[in-house]
Amino acid sequence: MPYLFYKDNREFINALQSNNDLVIIEQEVDWDLEMGAIVRRVCERKSASPYFKKIRDYPGFEAFGAPLATYKRLAIAMGMNPDASIPEISDEYVKRTTGEPIKPIVVEKKKAPCKENIWLGKEADLFKLPGPMVHDGDGGRYLATWHFVVSKDPDTGFVNWGMYRQMVFDEKTMVGPVLPFSDMGKMFYGKYVPKNKPMPFATVIGCDPLSGVAACAPAPIPEDEFTGMLMGAPVELVKCETNDLYVPAHAEIIIEGEVLPDIRIEEAPFGEYTGYRTSPREPRTVYRIKAITFRNNPIVTVSNMGVPTDEGQLLRSFSLGLEMRKLLDSQGIPITGVFMWPESTHHLVVVGVRPAYSGIASQIANLVFGSKLSPWFTMVVVVDHETDIYNKDEVIHALCTKCHPIRGIRKYEQAPGTPLYPFADPEDRKWSRGSQVLFDCLFPLDWPKAMVPIKVSFNNVYPKEIQEKVLKNWKSYGFQD
Ligand SMILES: Cc1cc2nc3c(=O)[nH]c(=O)nc-3n(C[C@H](O)[C@H](O)[C@H](O)COP(=O)(O)O)c2cc1C
Repeated sequence: MPYLFYKDNREFINALQSNNDLVIIEQEVDWDLEMGAIVRRVCERKSASPYFKKIRDYPGFEAFGAPLATYKRLAIAMGMNPDASIPEISDEYVKRTTGEPIKPIVVEKKKAPCKENIWLGKEADLFKLPGPMVHDGDGGRYLATWHFVVSKDPDTGFVNWGMYRQMVFDEKTMVGPVLPFSDMGKMFYGKYVPKNKPMPFATVIGCDPLSGVAACAPAPIPEDEFTGMLMGAPVELVKCETNDLYVPAHAEIIIEGEVLPDIRIEEAPFGEYTGYRTSPREPRTVYRIKAITFRNNPIVTVSNMGVPTDEGQLLRSFSLGLEMRKLLDSQGIPITGVFMWPESTHHLVVVGVRPAYSGIASQIANLVFGSKLSPWFTMVVVVDHETDIYNKDEVIHALCTKCHPIRGIRKYEQAPGTPLYPFADPEDRKWSRGSQVLFDCLFPLDWPKAMVPIKVSFNNVYPKEIQEKVLKNWKSYGFQD
């Protein structure tokens, strides 16, 4: 049974409009910083998504900013009540993404809107697309900020969709970082580069919202099948013009080409997911383009990474946390949940657990820090089942009262990391070296019962009948809340 989903960005934009979560900007905006500045302010204020109708120098093109920067938009994308709570959205996501993958289907080119216009050869010119100058200080115009890159493993045929930012270098060339531990990094640097073979790629801009969610999730299966699970229906794909990759038929813009194995071009700086401009201008991965196909009046999507909250932080925190929930559940650890605040820029994992045996917090940290996703995490906070992991106040209270400042903290050194940590020193950044820490917020099980402090809260220290009486009379006492 398909869930309620939007087959393209246009349907999703309409849904945002119906939910009062879209601002249509009729006046012309400049691709050079103005559009980026609007999206940035939207992210920082959690405002409605901006939809730009006129872009300077680019008649016929439109743009859509901050497409999934709030939980409300995520709930709408998943066809849920816009006011669904984070636990509700999380449970729904876990339910949909546990079970049988749903393979995509291929549609004919004439039924694929992304083929309405085809530019090949000389006509395929990246400067004909309204790539924005997103932040002042960026190394160039970034066409691909909310998008994904399709690639295929040459040996196994495994298809990867992942978000790897792309800066326009010249009419035919884009450049961007691909971290070595990412799926595309392992594929390209591990399999194509050693054979000096170019890797076919397709960049998809303006996809339906759930394809975007899947592409930035750490999906354990090909992301086209993962998208199918989120939709409850197969995603519709169409073959590229110049290689044998397949792309979503309803996407706005497709850029096809090859990733070159033998050359690197300087890229960055750029505003990054941590909320800082960290990585220097350096030689990075090169995408040489061969074709651009697009819908009539194409809509470019723009994400603006910076201080929280943008879609990278929100969706990566959401999906990384839930993959950890699945991992810990699969090991039979009696967890009550896992949550990552977007403001932690997906560095901090909060795990709730029934403290069933000694050492359980260390076991959790070992699994989280030992997982494939480990380089993205720097801190694990383990709290007990009575702490609401979604409530910052409760987690901070537990951290500051139950975690012993020395014995409750365990350090993990020489861990895999990313070169983007703002706190890392130059050598750590150079080698992508991380450091990780566990904050164990569980009272030790071997303490005598009388030693365990009693939490003083309304729910914990009053007899049931007093609680019920107070709740029943609350309004009549004169309280409005
Ligand atoms: C907006 C956005 C931009 C990203 N940019 C990059 C990037 O430039 N390079 C990179 O290696 N990862 C980047 N990431 C992280 C990858 O997209 C992330 O690891 C993704 O899950 C790729 O999946 P996979 O490599 O596990 O398939 C970005 C994520 C988001 C949400």
